[in-house]
Amino acid sequence: MDKAPASGRPLQPQRRGFLALLALAVLSYSLTSTFLLSSNSVQVPLNAATTIAQCRALSLTPGPPKDFYSRTTSDRFVPGTKPTLIRNATVWTGGDDGKEILTAADVLIDKGIIQSVGKVDISRLKLEDYVVVDAKGAWLTPGIVDMHSHLGVGSSPHLSGASDTNSHKGLAQPWLRSLDGLNTHDEAYRLSLSGGVTTANILPGSANAIGGQAFVIKLRPTPERSSNAMLLEPPFTVNGSEVDPFAKPRWRQMKHACGENPSRAYSGTRMDTTWAFRQAYDTARTLRDKQDAYCARALDGDWAGLGEFPNDLQYEALVDVLRGRVKVHNHCYETVDLSNQVRLTQEFKFPIAAFHHAHETYLVPDLLKQAYGHPPAIAMFAAHARYKREAYRGSEFAAKILADNRLDVVMKSDHSVLDSRYLLFEAQQAHYYGLPWNLALASITTTPSRVMGLGHRIGQIAKGFDADVVLWDSHPLHLAATPTQVIVDGIHQFDDPHTSPNKNLGMQKLPETPDFSEEAKLALEYEGLPPLEPKETLVATNKTVVVFTGIGEMYVKRDGHVVELASRFDGPDSVAVVKEGRTVCVGLHDECALWITEEENGSVRYVDLQHGSIWPGLVSYGSALGLTHIPGEASTKDGSTFDPLTGSVPNLVDGTLIRAVDGLLFSSRDALIAYRSGITSAIVAPSGGFLDGLSVAFSTSAPHKLAFGAVLQDIVALHVTISLGGKASVSTQIAALRGLLFGEADVEREVKKGFEGAARGKIPLVVAAESADTIATLVLLKKEIETAKGSTMRLVISGATEAHLLAEELGKENIGVLVRQRPYPSSWEKRRVLPGPPISAKTAISTLLEHNVTVGLMSDDPSLVRNLRFDTTWAAFQWDGAIDRAKSLELATTNVEKLFGLEHSNEDLFASVGPGGGFQSKVAAVISPSRGVVDLF
Ligand SMILES: *[C@@H]1O[C@H](CO)[C@@H](O)[C@H](O)[C@H]1NC(C)=O
Ligand SMILES: *[C@@H]1O[C@H](CO)[C@@H](O)[C@H](O)[C@H]1NC(C)=O
Ligand SMILES: *[C@@H]1O[C@H](CO)[C@@H](O)[C@H](O)[C@H]1NC(C)=O
Ligand SMILES: *[C@@H]1O[C@H](CO)[C@@H](O)[C@H](O)[C@H]1NC(C)=O
Ligand SMILES: *[C@@H]1O[C@H](CO)[C@@H](O)[C@H](O)[C@H]1NC(C)=O
Repeated sequence: MDKAPASGRPLQPQRRGFLALLALAVLSYSLTSTFLLSSNSVQVPLNAATTIAQCRALSLTPGPPKDFYSRTTSDRFVPGTKPTLIRNATVWTGGDDGKEILTAADVLIDKGIIQSVGKVDISRLKLEDYVVVDAKGAWLTPGIVDMHSHLGVGSSPHLSGASDTNSHKGLAQPWLRSLDGLNTHDEAYRLSLSGGVTTANILPGSANAIGGQAFVIKLRPTPERSSNAMLLEPPFTVNGSEVDPFAKPRWRQMKHACGENPSRAYSGTRMDTTWAFRQAYDTARTLRDKQDAYCARALDGDWAGLGEFPNDLQYEALVDVLRGRVKVHNHCYETVDLSNQVRLTQEFKFPIAAFHHAHETYLVPDLLKQAYGHPPAIAMFAAHARYKREAYRGSEFAAKILADNRLDVVMKSDHSVLDSRYLLFEAQQAHYYGLPWNLALASITTTPSRVMGLGHRIGQIAKGFDADVVLWDSHPLHLAATPTQVIVDGIHQFDDPHTSPNKNLGMQKLPETPDFSEEAKLALEYEGLPPLEPKETLVATNKTVVVFTGIGEMYVKRDGHVVELASRFDGPDSVAVVKEGRTVCVGLHDECALWITEEENGSVRYVDLQHGSIWPGLVSYGSALGLTHIPGEASTKDGSTFDPLTGSVPNLVDGTLIRAVDGLLFSSRDALIAYRSGITSAIVAPSGGFLDGLSVAFSTSAPHKLAFGAVLQDIVALHVTISLGGKASVSTQIAALRGLLFGEADVEREVKKGFEGAARGKIPLVVAAESADTIATLVLLKKEIETAKGSTMRLVISGATEAHLLAEELGKENIGVLVRQRPYPSSWEKRRVLPGPPISAKTAISTLLEHNVTVGLMSDDPSLVRNLRFDTTWAAFQWDGAIDRAKSLELATTNVEKLFGLEHSNEDLFASVGPGGGFQSKVAAVISPSRGVVDLF
């Protein structure tokens, strides 16, 4: 039973000032004391009125005070901020379950608040006092709300002196507060704002069962520059333990975590973590019961020997959880952990606001509904999964399935696990995989606001809400949608925002996403591990002819470039006829029909692409795809090589170049998903330290190494990593590389031969390096070697976050780069990112391409390799030249192959149903001439 404190009438939120209340309290105190003194002759404590108020307040539910809704000025208003009138916007308000859209609407902002929405009578305004924005019909949404972020507590760039996410001083520490570690100088504030993120819940990390209290902040800079000034409606306890008992309490937030992380941090098990929860909650329950017993007597006027109100600064926040006054955010993935937590809520009777990450929640909706109080919301990634065991059954269809079960879905970044600048991309992907559009937009605005108890002021565009709005260059659920302005508390965050030039009119409409209902069903049927192999493989022996009809566009590789097939395409009449994996005819149906014999005619398979595309198979590079199944599990992956700079190389392999081909692991779920997403081949290098070894190119669909076409090239390039903060200094790493390239280092056999090959340009040398300083050193080293050897090296820089600073030199020296589509300053050597719109006109990719640098795309995370198709399309939209599909495809095909010398290794094509290569299309088939097959998905 939940013991509610004995209370009289609940104290209503007061509109009068504190002094007036105090006067009232003193009056009631004197009345009570007079009465008590005369009847019982008991000494009534001087602070009795406060104590009584405190006791009565224990049963108050947090929320805005009554007068909140008639506020005319925000408590976050910065005096001097000009009012803003946004005219003619298409407003997604967040109202009507996310379905309300106002067209040609005006939004009037003043005093940090949205003053009116819809038709604004401008005749009564002195327009010269306003910042007037003509939206020209563009989309306007509420500011994005990230319910799970470590921005400011985990630093970007990462520096050990500003690493405040996790305490390692105890499994259950409800007394810790993320606010106390909130660094105000993180690079990510501005970057995340540039993605439209205006508010974030800053959670402690997940190393503890109870990691501490979280705080909601707005990301804009403040005139005061303090962390305090960033807080949004903080609980009154923020300034200390003495709380005005007469004020209606505000919601608090708290982090819990279960499963692998607390186990790992404390060398324990799930049993230990669950016990830590129970012990802490038992302590809180005991304290709560003491308080309630105390208050029962105080409210009865039974003061004899009552003493002080029982409290404990370490447990008061957890007591508040038991009183239902804290939004509990519970990092919890697997069914075992979800079950444990649901039991815990039943044992101690408290609600959980949200399960976070929660990769298995979609498998157990009924379990979630058994949680005490109400079913938790689910805060999740869209497609980021399989990085550890508890994420292994994660599904891209989870959001849709949870919503089908009427559970609240929130998309979150876990910044900087994902860069919160692109939280919108998570909502877009959730929508792509089946979450209804209204819920997808709500999942990063209204839903998290409501779940955090802040739905009265953020997450909607409506009169009286905080003036946090984002103006977009396309429909917000369209791939690559980018803010053109972000307004927080009425303040414009970008003085001179740059816009992406390539957005076209078609992008102003909601993308029509493909149907994934069959896949979603299979995800459930197979407990999160549905078969990923093609539905059907048509091999040469079948003698089946496949005819792709309704082709909207077709691109192929030719002479090291991607070209569009000259065509009279885009009609139901355009076809490609494929026999044994070879495309024998592309053109109008009547012409190509000649290629189908009468004998074959009976068994022709037609695949209608519905204005879709046929593109060259994409190549993945940069992640451990091919060397790992579960990155967090040592026993599922190839592992690390020895680092010669630490002197740890065993004699047996000293002088040997480690080959990735020897460690290849096929049929990982990430590889099969990549294949189904059009990434038909991958390059992977061993990794370990300075001298990584030799990379391999392989087919993502192969079942094992001995299968035909599994290994495309067993030795591709020689890989070295140079990084700041490594075990040896950068100058030591460069000295070692120089020695190796000059053949002067005292090394044996293969290593000597390998570097001699690299110095002579017989094999590409791929150096992972991020900082412009390191890259500049490598440019000079290349010249030095080439002059000495009379050779031309094939140097490629991978990572290359700061390469745009040297674009001209790299172009001149013919040094290629492999870069991420969305760079992020996670470390010091990556801090000079070129962010792109709205912060800068150019991106690193556009800058490098302008200088004729060969640019390939890379991705770091094996579970996100699947997004390479989106990444190429996204890069094209950011370009400040004309949209050029062919060039954008080169980034993930011919350019990568050129850099690695793999020009003819893979002639696969893939076909997608639906137009555009973005969220309107779905990969339907891979056409492989080398293997003589067509795989149908
Ligand atoms: C609003 O913007 C749209 C799109 O640019 C334009 O067609 C329309 O004329 C504008 N309406 C007003 C009232 O300015
Ligand atoms: C905390 O103290 C600061 C400085 O006195 C004040 O501005 C702020 O309103 C206080 N916050 C709360 C929640 O009481
Ligand atoms: C094609 O041939 C393969 C192997 O020869 C066989 O397993 C498959 O069922 C055949 N498919 C069709 C559609 O005939
Ligand atoms: C193949 O079959 C279609 C009908 O399915 C027919 O229209 C066409 O003429 C046939 N072509 C040949 C070459 O037999
Ligand atoms: C890049 O190449 C093009 C075509 O060869 C050439 O016109 C242009 O001047 C080059 N740009 C730079 C910066 O070298």
